[in-house]
Amino acid sequence: MADRVFCIDFGSDYTKVALRRDPGADSELLKRRGANTNEPEFCFHSTVAVDRRGPKAIPEFGEKAADLSPGGGVDVYRNWKKSLFLPETSSAKSNQSPLEALIQSAELRELAIKYGVATSQLTNLQHLVGAAKNLIAGPTGKVYSAEIQQQTIAAALAPHFFIWLRQQVLDACSRLPTTGLKYDSIPVRITVPAFDQIKTAESQPGWKVLIDALGKAGWPLHPDNPVTAEPYANAIGILTKASNSFQRGQVRIGDMFGRGPFITVLKDATHHPLYRALVIDIGAFTTDFALLTLKPNDDNSSDPDSNISVIQKSIPLGVSDLDARMTDALPKEKGEWLRKTNPLNWEDFRPAVYTEGKGIRVPELGIIGGPADAELVRSCLAELANRIADETTKFLESMGPVPSGSLEELILTGGGSYIPTIREAVQIASLTGNHSYAKTHAPALKKVTGGPPIDKLDTSFARGGTALGGSSIYFEKSLF
Ligand SMILES: Nc1ncnc2c1ncn2[C@@H]1O[C@H](COP(=O)(O)OP(=O)(O)OP(=O)(O)O)[C@@H](O)[C@H]1O
Ligand SMILES: [Mg+2]
Repeated sequence: MADRVFCIDFGSDYTKVALRRDPGADSELLKRRGANTNEPEFCFHSTVAVDRRGPKAIPEFGEKAADLSPGGGVDVYRNWKKSLFLPETSSAKSNQSPLEALIQSAELRELAIKYGVATSQLTNLQHLVGAAKNLIAGPTGKVYSAEIQQQTIAAALAPHFFIWLRQQVLDACSRLPTTGLKYDSIPVRITVPAFDQIKTAESQPGWKVLIDALGKAGWPLHPDNPVTAEPYANAIGILTKASNSFQRGQVRIGDMFGRGPFITVLKDATHHPLYRALVIDIGAFTTDFALLTLKPNDDNSSDPDSNISVIQKSIPLGVSDLDARMTDALPKEKGEWLRKTNPLNWEDFRPAVYTEGKGIRVPELGIIGGPADAELVRSCLAELANRIADETTKFLESMGPVPSGSLEELILTGGGSYIPTIREAVQIASLTGNHSYAKTHAPALKKVTGGPPIDKLDTSFARGGTALGGSSIYFEKSLF
């Protein structure tokens, strides 16, 4: 059990950090310094850059890194979280390159015969390729795939990133109203995606790298559960509205959920024996689903702590896939510009193109993603929207039929839920299998006449829910 805790939501694009400074204090998001960006002030860029232009390689982080364009001696690492969490894509692939496969193939042997190439010549060619491979790979002969190389780089970046992040966090704490707290001794928890085949947060391939990196950064780890899953943390953050309640040695779960959307059912337990919230977080790297079910007690509906269950799943699909698709689909020069531009420009590009449909002006090229590219933007957006909608349908179908008497709410979060095409596709897919929602909570929602009730979700919850929830006293299970 920890009286106070930091929670790091290590996002692929933006890292958010929350603090619970006392068992019963509301969780709060910590704010960065810096003003070059329109992103909320609790969003720290997860970008790391290495500037090798001078005699010494200089690492840069946060806004400074995001302001650097790759090339000419500058390496910019965006979305390196992906490489930590998806090593299975690389280990599944064979170590043999396509060229080696061709050289060793029966088809090539047949072609050699057809063209009258001597067998010894083909064998020599095979030896030559083998020798070249050993030369590149070193004495073990093992050639590492691009993914494994990326993973090695990401693991090397992690400690440096968390050292920098810890400085930013302690600096943010020093600007909080004085409390006499020793912030540098407060332990930390970190959230990780919840992929299918992974049973617990600790069995994530990337978690050990992150835990080691936090240790190297001098961060004390939470003594019981230093890692928790992103979808679960996000759902808790939103549904408790980041409140914590602890009185006379007891966690008051009922009070906490009473502050969030659960209030509807807590007040009306007899009519709704079951309350469910479907929380969908559309991030840069993953889309996270969490379905939280609450069965209020008949006798004491204000204390539902043992009656909460969660089903969760992260899918490696998000706004970074749309970025990649756009880069490939745009006319050559525009695509090249996007490939080479810095993360701060990307940050302007996404809302302007994906959300407002306006595009951004680039001096040499005119407007990128504007009217001239409208058709292409629409098709890239529709493609991602359809894929996320399909995953939503699959997730809901795997839940089975809606139990009778359920009162359901839909909550959409993450940067991707600001994009109308995606948000609307997910809203429609969420109706799969007779689900209907008493209320939909999402950022930038507009009330539709005759449509279901809506609640415009505040930015700090839409983007900061995971960090806020991850620092909740709800996760201090030893108190229960
Ligand atoms: N209004 C907007 N319109 C379009 N895109 C946006 C908007 N606001 C934020 N984004 C983009 O949404 C993406 C996802 O942001 P978010 O902070 O949810 O991701 P993350 O937490 O870093 O990713 P993950 O949780 O997958 O690791 C970012 O690329 C961000 O730039
Ligand atoms: Mg996220």
